[in-house]
Amino acid sequence: MRELNKDELDSINNLKWWHRIPVGLVEGKPFYTPGMVQHGPDGSDFATTRFGLPADLNGKTVLDIGAWDGYFSFEAERRGARLVVASDMALTRPNKDLLEHANWGGNKGFRAAHRVLGSQVGFIEASVFRIDEAVRQAHMNTIGDLTGREYPLEYDVTLFYGVLYHLIEPFLALQKVAAVTREMAVVETAIAKGKDMKMELRPGFDNDPSNWWYPTIPCLQEMLIRAGFKRTELVFNLNDLRATVAAFK
Ligand SMILES: C[S@@+](CC[C@H](N)C(=O)[O-])C[C@H]1O[C@@H](n2cnc3c(N)ncnc32)[C@H](O)[C@@H]1O
Repeated sequence: MRELNKDELDSINNLKWWHRIPVGLVEGKPFYTPGMVQHGPDGSDFATTRFGLPADLNGKTVLDIGAWDGYFSFEAERRGARLVVASDMALTRPNKDLLEHANWGGNKGFRAAHRVLGSQVGFIEASVFRIDEAVRQAHMNTIGDLTGREYPLEYDVTLFYGVLYHLIEPFLALQKVAAVTREMAVVETAIAKGKDMKMELRPGFDNDPSNWWYPTIPCLQEMLIRAGFKRTELVFNLNDLRATVAAFK
């Protein structure tokens, strides 16, 4: 990490952030983008323990669907991934509710952090419902790319964090995630409590009009199997409110 200059600091501080991303040093101390969520206390390893992000991603390709400011994309890059592609839909389907509640500022934060970090993370603008087409298009567009960064048709590791419960058609979304995943997907979501195979419909839950469906953990695991994965593992259960499940091809 290097010391940030005044322009860089201003470019960060003038934006509204969701993520706290370590982007450099200020007076020798780690500086984090001033985001509202902390994926664990600064400097902790919640990305691994709570979100199941593999500690070593050396040589892997990673797709982060619904990346927002890109905390997990940049972390995957830091963990040695050969290629990381962030994707989000904020700019493709401007939706007032979504912009206000689930992704303010489009990908401005992502771009600012990307610039300051000197990151090589790529970006695909797409809804998860069209991610298979968008990944194919990006693959076609990068064949023979002089940088040698050909985007694959399937990614070794797909991250799908904090998106599922915002979707009207969650099962279709998991099928799309499976379609672009080669080895493993990690899904983090708000959940319903219980052991039954059920999905609770909670439109607008928590005063957030972008919230819809809350599966129990067994339901989420079964959906992942039906969507095309061979087996699943529960990574984390946060007080029966949120959970992370890894699914393997
Ligand atoms: C709660 S945020 C989660 C951000 C990040 N993945 C995390 O875990 O911190 C939800 C994200 O999902 C994105 N999103 C919402 N609907 C989506 C869709 N249909 N396809 C892809 N991303 C979507 C939003 O734009 C937003 O970036």
